[in-house]
Amino acid sequence: MGIILLLLLSSIPPFQAAAADVFCGNVKVVAATLVNKTSSSPTHFATVTFGDAPDVVYALALCRGDILDDSTCADAVTNTFRKVQNLTPPEMECLKGFSAYYADCIFIYNAINLLAASPNTVGSYEDGGRPFQRWNVKNVTGDIPLITGLIHDLRVETAEKAANATPKRFATGVLDSGTSFPKIYSLSQCTPDLSAGDCLACLRRLLGMINSTMALRMGGQMAVVRCYFRFDASKFYEGEPMITLGAPSPAPAPAEHKSKSSTNK
Ligand SMILES: *[C@@H]1O[C@H](CO)[C@@H](O)[C@H](O)[C@H]1NC(C)=O
Ligand SMILES: *[C@@H]1O[C@H](CO)[C@@H](O)[C@H](O)[C@H]1NC(C)=O
Ligand SMILES: *[C@@H]1O[C@H](CO)[C@@H](O)[C@H](O)[C@H]1NC(C)=O
Repeated sequence: MGIILLLLLSSIPPFQAAAADVFCGNVKVVAATLVNKTSSSPTHFATVTFGDAPDVVYALALCRGDILDDSTCADAVTNTFRKVQNLTPPEMECLKGFSAYYADCIFIYNAINLLAASPNTVGSYEDGGRPFQRWNVKNVTGDIPLITGLIHDLRVETAEKAANATPKRFATGVLDSGTSFPKIYSLSQCTPDLSAGDCLACLRRLLGMINSTMALRMGGQMAVVRCYFRFDASKFYEGEPMITLGAPSPAPAPAEHKSKSSTNK
């Protein structure tokens, strides 16, 4: 009994700072592992759990779906971790948790096992936490009810397209309202380990948080651990939009004529 107690005591680090260093050391290992694991994954997504209690690090990285090249994804993960380190206060070697949402990569690490949490309830840092969000300060102009309604439809349809996409749960879209209002581009993505239903629920939960003030904005983005969306008036992703929305056509008649004439042939 006395021997066991002695062994336990001797394994306790003498200073609290030493315990934090172990965690930070684990974070560095996790970051290096994630660069490789994420970029070599076919869906450019990876999770890593590393270390012994109480210094276990839970982490994930996801490259944006329009990054097709493995080395570009590796660079994105590397650069995002570098930004995370630059944002850490200089007096600290690392924080106990950090969620970074950048244009081309999501990088999250935490002492809390947020990988185990339900995709529907996962906030930015911990269960029930608030999502990451950033909004364009400009409001839409012109026919405001029409434009905001179309942007709403664009967000919903892009989310649905992403949820049903495999193996990456990722989709892009564009809205051309047919008015002088500029085109709006959209993007949605979930971590590819989510089912279509969980992905859609995750995105719908975010979309449901958009209040009437934010619904007027020309662009914005929201993210939690396993899903995010973005929309804006400039094209911020590579490749052709996967869905295109136009203004509701007031005259579906020409299409009917076409199909009639083809059946008459
Ligand atoms: C990345 O992982 C592969 C496969 O596990 C391995 O062969 C390679 O050496 C790793 N590269 C780096 C830079 O760690
Ligand atoms: C956007 O609209 C809101 C609500 O009408 C208004 O309070 C805000 O000042 C507008 N923002 C800009 C940048 O015009
Ligand atoms: C609308 O949502 C934004 C972003 O979450 C928040 O900052 C703002 O306080 C909300 N406005 C209202 C009126 O609830």
